[in-house]
Amino acid sequence: MAAQQPEWPDERELKAALEELSALPPLVFAGEASRLRSALASVAEGKTFLLQAGDCAESFGDFSADAIRDKLKIVLQMAVVLTYAAGMPVLKVGRIAGQFAKPRTKNDETLGGVSLPSFRGHSVNDDTFDAEARRPDPARMVRSYHQSAATLNLIRAFTKGGFADINKLHTWNQEFVAASKQGRRYEQVAREIDRALRFMAACGIDLTEESELHEVDFYTSHEALLLGYEEALTRKDSLSGDYFDCSAHLLWIGERTRQLDGAHVEFLSGVKNPLAVKLGPSATPAEAIALADRLNPDNEPGRLSFITRMGAEKVGDALPPLVQEITDSGHNVVWICDPMHGNTISSGKGFKTRRFADILSEIKAFFAIHHESGTVPGGVHLELTHESVTECLGGAEEVLDGHLEHHYQALCDPRLNARQSLDLAFDLAEMLQTN
Ligand code: TRP
Ligand code: MN
Repeated sequence: MAAQQPEWPDERELKAALEELSALPPLVFAGEASRLRSALASVAEGKTFLLQAGDCAESFGDFSADAIRDKLKIVLQMAVVLTYAAGMPVLKVGRIAGQFAKPRTKNDETLGGVSLPSFRGHSVNDDTFDAEARRPDPARMVRSYHQSAATLNLIRAFTKGGFADINKLHTWNQEFVAASKQGRRYEQVAREIDRALRFMAACGIDLTEESELHEVDFYTSHEALLLGYEEALTRKDSLSGDYFDCSAHLLWIGERTRQLDGAHVEFLSGVKNPLAVKLGPSATPAEAIALADRLNPDNEPGRLSFITRMGAEKVGDALPPLVQEITDSGHNVVWICDPMHGNTISSGKGFKTRRFADILSEIKAFFAIHHESGTVPGGVHLELTHESVTECLGGAEEVLDGHLEHHYQALCDPRLNARQSLDLAFDLAEMLQTN
């Protein structure tokens, strides 16, 4: 049984879309996914910190060179802060170039007495509340593929073609961020890095020759929700003979689709990409162990990450037994904190929101718990945007309840805006320093 699949109204349309996808080139190369697995093995050892971030849901309506550039800017800024302040390499993974499908609690949404299919992400239907827009259309998966291909192409160009060069770090500070307190703090870090680079150059090191300073490895990830789409993009690697899901480097299984006997676990157990599974407060240690047995039977380091999303209130009770029993079982997993999904609340005016303080508090607890048990807090999984939105409450330049309506643009879940994201990077850097 495959949970959370759309009810496609027309079998022939579905078949045509999947056939088209099967014939299209892969988006990523198996060798890249394997490299990510090695990088994640380094995260498991505590030698690298993972920053996985992006929109809750990507949008067909937010697709431009500027948007992709700005999404990359905020991740690079956060990564620089973390790398410099914590003195630790940062593995950069985007929720991007494929994050177009959403699981939903209810099949239908009812508004003013009218019931329509729920919005399931732009790979499936449109968010507008209108019968035609909400009709699941398989051709949208093909459109997602093409948007992912173009997005990934530009990301590759930016990260390998000079935009992510460490000498460009001042240009990643967007205007509305630069004007804020955390933006100025970033400028200070940037100046210190400039000085360190000048110092090395003065010592006679030819920095132009060091490609590490001029390029960044940036990986893609999304929730592997629509099994038809994922299967159509699965290819046999001619070098190793293994199967890879070439829609992204890393795929994760959501909290709602991680049933041991379910189709998502079955499908992903058969591909060699690095995988992640989201675990909420109801996940039992026995379930987690069974998932690890199933998804990583050879206990390969970097193959499996658990992304815990407990909520600030529950993390103290829910996380320690999982960490303890997985560790005792001998499974080598990467522990990642998703401080977003367990902390979603409804604001006074009914906006879906999250408090910055709760997000921070779950991350702090995550670090403390791993510290206590001698395990590694490997990284964070965040929903954020480069834009000046008001979707999450709080942060240094405080977003208040009454502000939410000003720039609330989320298609699905509330995201940290660029200032709140940078804020969080400074907090994370401090946690990593004292770690
Ligand atoms: N290549 C190194 C890294 O990815 C250094 C680096 C270059 C970098 N440009 C960067 C680090 C931008 C963070 C952000 O870590
Ligand atoms: Mn979300």
